[in-house]
Amino acid sequence: MALYDETYRPQFHFTPKTNWTNDPNGLMCYKGEYHLFLQHNPHGINWGHMTWGHAVSPDLVHWTQLDHAIYPDGLGTIFSGSGVVDWNNTAGFQTGDEAVLVCIYTSAGGTSPESEGQPFTQSIAYSNDRGRTWTKHEGNPVLGHIVGSNRDPKVLWHEPTQRWVMALFLDGNDYAFFGSPDLKDWTRLCDVHIEGASECPDLFELPVDGDPANTKWVFWGASGNYLLGAFDGTAFTPESESLRSNWGANSYAAQTWSDIPPEDGRRIQIAWMAKGEYPGMPFNQQMTFPVELTLRTTPDGIRLHKTPVREIENIRDESLIWHDAALTPGANLLEGLEGELLDLRAEIEPAGAAAVGITLRGERVHYDVASATVSSLGTEAPLPLEDGRIRLQILLDRTTVEVFGNDGAISMPTCFLPDPADRGLGVYAEGGEARLVSLEIHRLRSAWRRTEHSAVALSPPRGGP
Ligand code: FRU
Repeated sequence: MALYDETYRPQFHFTPKTNWTNDPNGLMCYKGEYHLFLQHNPHGINWGHMTWGHAVSPDLVHWTQLDHAIYPDGLGTIFSGSGVVDWNNTAGFQTGDEAVLVCIYTSAGGTSPESEGQPFTQSIAYSNDRGRTWTKHEGNPVLGHIVGSNRDPKVLWHEPTQRWVMALFLDGNDYAFFGSPDLKDWTRLCDVHIEGASECPDLFELPVDGDPANTKWVFWGASGNYLLGAFDGTAFTPESESLRSNWGANSYAAQTWSDIPPEDGRRIQIAWMAKGEYPGMPFNQQMTFPVELTLRTTPDGIRLHKTPVREIENIRDESLIWHDAALTPGANLLEGLEGELLDLRAEIEPAGAAAVGITLRGERVHYDVASATVSSLGTEAPLPLEDGRIRLQILLDRTTVEVFGNDGAISMPTCFLPDPADRGLGVYAEGGEARLVSLEIHRLRSAWRRTEHSAVALSPPRGGP
């Protein structure tokens, strides 16, 4: 098995070349490169020795893994955190013409022999060469221990108050915000509590229904539960209960990219597909495909929506398209078709059917009309009919099925281990006839096979079994 082409190697979802990964860290964009740092174990296939791995991409689809960025030291192993571009050189780290990239991470004291007896604190490291080499700040930690295993600093630049804001996980379902002029001196601003979430906070502002004059702040915890609210740079005022954004079995610790240029303006998120299994593989764990986040008004109120970033079109191969077909119980319009890497988009009017769905490699993405729910690989999400129809987008990769319903109103990222021999596809109706309004099946190419990225795709040694 060639590296990056193994049986259970996702072909358009990020995995490290070898060994364990969990949370995405330090997401930032600088000069056309998306940086993805990752919790990584340089020494083994299971969690441990937490170090920041590093990959870059021009388009969120094709990734090149670079050297590890931040290694454990006497303050601790390197737990999760975030990254920002210090455009105004507020920290004074800049030495050349490039803006400084700064990573803010948890020094997890006591998780290694070298850091025995140290508490969990927050530290920073910076790069003057577009993220290729990293230097730890000599005054680390920049924020001392507060409580428990406080961790996972998420930092953003708050333009109206001209200062940095850090959201930090404290303990239980409690978080706190801190403010700083220079990323080094931090003052506590406010506390935030969110039911059903711990660890890995995120905080960002989004327009509602695309209206820049009407924005809400989203406060996010690792489980994917979030609060909508107002944030004035000091206090966060929740305006919703804790809302759920994730219905899949494998999504945790999602983070969004900082410093995406304003002319692009998207808020893009990626998550760890926690608990996936990869038997016999040289790596362990993977990320979701990046999604664009938007806030849209629904009958239940304003809700986050997630849709795969449009750059997925960069790996499109053949497209098969159907319009206006009848789905009759017992028949399969896709009889004989096979697929392994797909971006499938369907609009279905169940009409007289009790259930409709799509089959992929022996698994069903199943819509039950009476309960208005969609289920996939053991989890279930609410999906009301809109004008009598549902819209589904399904990303199929070697080890994952990611389902998005009604333009991202629900998302279900789930890992699976398909039978390598079963690549069958189907679309079905049960208990009556339904109408397939449209179906697009876009076959995708492996993101690892692009010549510009062959340095990654072809580099030895193989770690496979
Ligand atoms: C979330 C988490 C973080 C921590 C990191 C350690 O998955 O537990 O809270 O910083 O993983 O790897």
